[in-house]
Amino acid sequence: MDKLRITGGNPLHGEITVSGAKNAALPILCASLLTAEPVTLHNVPGLRDIDTTLKLLSQMGVRVAREGESVTLQAAELTSLEAPYELVKTMRASILVLGPLLARFGEAKVSLPGGCAIGQRPVDQHIKGLEAMQADIHIEHGFVLANAPRLQGATIRTDMITVTGTENLMMAATLANGETIIENAAREPEIVDLAELLIAMGARITGHGTDRIIIQGVERLHGATHSIMADRIETGTFLCAVAATGGELMLRRTSTDTLGATLDKLREAGLHMEEGPDWIRAHMQGRPKAVGCRTSEYPGFPTDMQAQLMALNAIAEGTAIIVETIFENRFMHVQELNRLGAQIEIDGNTAVVQGVPRLTGARVMATDLRASASLVIAGLCADEETIIERIYHLDRGYDRMESKLQAVGAQIERIKG
Ligand code: EPU
Repeated sequence: MDKLRITGGNPLHGEITVSGAKNAALPILCASLLTAEPVTLHNVPGLRDIDTTLKLLSQMGVRVAREGESVTLQAAELTSLEAPYELVKTMRASILVLGPLLARFGEAKVSLPGGCAIGQRPVDQHIKGLEAMQADIHIEHGFVLANAPRLQGATIRTDMITVTGTENLMMAATLANGETIIENAAREPEIVDLAELLIAMGARITGHGTDRIIIQGVERLHGATHSIMADRIETGTFLCAVAATGGELMLRRTSTDTLGATLDKLREAGLHMEEGPDWIRAHMQGRPKAVGCRTSEYPGFPTDMQAQLMALNAIAEGTAIIVETIFENRFMHVQELNRLGAQIEIDGNTAVVQGVPRLTGARVMATDLRASASLVIAGLCADEETIIERIYHLDRGYDRMESKLQAVGAQIERIKG
């Protein structure tokens, strides 16, 4: 298993080009199942989760052509309507094939994702919504078995706000008979990006980006071309890194309008930022100030930035209170940050971070994707050497993170294992 070796203490200086958003690309790749015509996507990030999704789609019979950051998918005829356990267990987002398969082919067999490092993460809301659209769904031998000669439009109100749940139901509804209304829908920018692709494919959707999405089903969708939005979490991660190490970073091919809550917190911490339509220049001098946060659904502070903000707080002046409200177990990075000398205590879903002037390098272990990113940030400002093990988590969701950081002066290298 690969490791990262980081020698901390260098401020970051230079330019980074932000990649396409993982959490927009994953549902968008699955949306290609909704049409027999080719769907061409640009700005697709080079990630392990993207490789896994393409493998899953190819196994079903989708023709995939990938060249650099562009991918063309054509689901003309499928040979299988199944998402097997081997793939779903490595990537929960595989559940996103359920809605499209059921809507276009009238059946699907998708392995139930199990629990994961950050919480239980059930998919009951995906199932409840599809049942409201008259799908017949059974759980057997660890699989979701779904049938529906034609999905019927329905009004669905999810019990909680769910991002992939909203995406699955929105995709399913594009080919249903009649009107579907999703109430209590997630408002994440990645849902808007997916809706924009679906509309380009001929879907009739309004209200995306609000908590009430209305979809008028159509008989069929056609091919389209779409460029994936910039990754707001990757952007936020590099901004946390420069806020922690000091220096000046220019982030290109990003966007600022999806990052409001994160930028507010970083400004409070002392990061100076100038913004243009697709760039952010960030400059940090001195020690950051402690900033608390309470994670919530968009447009609140994203749970996917919580671990990185915690790493920043670990070396900040003052004490920060961080409350995680989305996932019940998303503090796995705390023990590892404490191994680097951080002073963090957890009480239920609240972490109290007492900033220390310096961290000291150590061997630590990545436990999930964003936890890994927080350890990289901590390693970049820790004295001497930090070794991060199990960085396959990082490769799932960050496109060449160590090369991007090397290019701006970080001493970071991958040790092949
Ligand atoms: N939930 C249920 N039942 C459901 C669906 C969700 O109880 O049927 C609960 C979850 O257990 C959780 C909460 O509702 O407590 C919200 O979960 P959500 O469904 O919104 O999460 P997700 O769709 O599985 C996506 C991202 C995550 C991100 C969350 C929250 C993708 C592929 N994944 O997950 O991204 O943390 O939304 O914003 O879009 C990451 O990129 O590191 C990551 C984990």
